[in-house]
Amino acid sequence: MMGSRARHGRLPIRFPFPVMPLSSKAWSAAPSYGEVFYARATGQAPEMESSKAAAKKLRGIVVPQARILDVGCGSGHYLRSLRREFPFPFFYEGSDITPEYIALGKKAYANDPLVRFTVASVEELPYEPKSFDVVMCCNILLHLPSVTNALRELWRVTRSTLLVRTQIGNSTFRIKQVPEPDVMNGKEDPLFGADGEPKTCHYYNIYSERYIRWFLGSMPDVEDVLIERDMDYDPRALGAGAWPEDAKPDDLTEVMGGWQVHKYILQPWSFLRVTRTIAS
Ligand SMILES: C[S@@+](CC[C@H](N)C(=O)[O-])C[C@H]1O[C@@H](n2cnc3c(N)ncnc32)[C@H](O)[C@@H]1O
Repeated sequence: MMGSRARHGRLPIRFPFPVMPLSSKAWSAAPSYGEVFYARATGQAPEMESSKAAAKKLRGIVVPQARILDVGCGSGHYLRSLRREFPFPFFYEGSDITPEYIALGKKAYANDPLVRFTVASVEELPYEPKSFDVVMCCNILLHLPSVTNALRELWRVTRSTLLVRTQIGNSTFRIKQVPEPDVMNGKEDPLFGADGEPKTCHYYNIYSERYIRWFLGSMPDVEDVLIERDMDYDPRALGAGAWPEDAKPDDLTEVMGGWQVHKYILQPWSFLRVTRTIAS
């Protein structure tokens, strides 16, 4: 069952607060997130702005019979944009660490023989090297403690093109959002341990373009690295103005001066496209 916010089809829920490090248990703690993925996958809710943008970025790259892997796919909702953008047969594999989301993906595409879903971590993908023509991974790497472990693994299974959407700017920040309990009245520190570190947190990391390019320079067979700011979204689909006052999520992404802003953090959302040397 979709909630009333999901029916509005925009960012409809409070972002879940996983414990550190991000675990499947933490993501599954937010079942409504899966409902939204499912609604998007089945066309009951609109395509996400980043899903439309990712499909656009793959124009000229996805060809008939291509094998596409979507890592951190949720319930495969990006496939809707891919199908609209590429009206020819291609194989789609969705993988995600959260079993509940994968189960909903299987339900949404139960009758589609060119779709498969697998529960897996981005840091340990159960696929052979270079087994997918195109690998995509959107809106996940910022939430992981290590961006390099994930990039190394994504690149390992990529045959031709890797497309990542994450926060890339001109400085590197390690940002931890620390969830607060409703009540703070005990003696024990509710947020931080004795070492000053948060007891639980949710990462929103930003990496500099220099750092990402440096890291990819150490990867084998990298022919080309393209990093482009993602400004290709409809602010009305994200902005607070689009919500009725009584249904506004308090964790909404807003747009200020053309930038997406989450709480106090300006988000340099970017697409990273890495191409493998043709001969390799
Ligand atoms: C912010 S959601 C993004 C989902 C989708 N890609 C999108 O852009 O709407 C993050 C997704 O990553 C998954 N995830 C989190 N940690 C993961 C990991 N280590 N390996 C694979 N998937 C992970 C979560 O279960 C969740 O579906």
